[in-house]
Amino acid sequence: MTRRPLFAANWKCFKTPDETRAYIDAFRPGAEELIPKTDIAILPPFIDLETVRLALDGTTIGYGAQDCYWEQQGAFTGEVSAAMLGALGCEYCIVGHSERRRLFGETDEMVSKKITALLAEGITPIVCVGETLDEYKGGLTLQRVMQQVSDGLGHLEDGERANLVVAYEPVWAIGTGLADDPDSANRTIGYIRQCLGGLDEARVLYGGSMKAENAAQFCAQPNIDGGLVGSASLDAVTFLKLVENGAEMRA
Ligand code: PGA
Repeated sequence: MTRRPLFAANWKCFKTPDETRAYIDAFRPGAEELIPKTDIAILPPFIDLETVRLALDGTTIGYGAQDCYWEQQGAFTGEVSAAMLGALGCEYCIVGHSERRRLFGETDEMVSKKITALLAEGITPIVCVGETLDEYKGGLTLQRVMQQVSDGLGHLEDGERANLVVAYEPVWAIGTGLADDPDSANRTIGYIRQCLGGLDEARVLYGGSMKAENAAQFCAQPNIDGGLVGSASLDAVTFLKLVENGAEMRA
């Protein structure tokens, strides 16, 4: 089965609109050369989405958000709805990132509602799952991801799941420089694919300290279809190198 790779830049809470414009200027020519081999998406803070949209106009480089709210509109101060992201042409949206789960109380039930809202707008959810350090040490990795996958995605049809993107991100590997072992990540992702129907066809990314130096090792694994990249996506040249190294292995 051939699944087209995807490398998504999760900028988290970094970059103003001016910084975003400068990044895309530097990123766009190299990224357009890589697009025949791989999908690429930029996921900036909400305030930068319009800048990204304009700066990427005329390319097939994707963009999207890092979170959304499931109601279309209403008295929900501070929220941005999936419908609003759709109106801005977003192709992707992260759901259930571990920072949102840990710092902002996002639950699997909220994850499942956000996924439904995004699918209704034709936006591809990038659903994050992964175990904490304690769970990892306690040998609970598979149990934890199985629970997140079944609680977050259990309500969907197989065909809907096939069109999702899942990101396996061990929490202990995020922003620490301590990436998972590629073999081990491959095994965990193989397990995720077996949890529910449709996930064998879905793209599953690895995330957690993916760098230009280790991207090829991860992408050489049969179950890993690319990366969700935080720190190494903040510099255009570094991220291009990472995408190039990773996409090479899937060509
Ligand atoms: P990192 O972050 O690449 O900085 O580890 C990944 C993520 O949080 O999605």
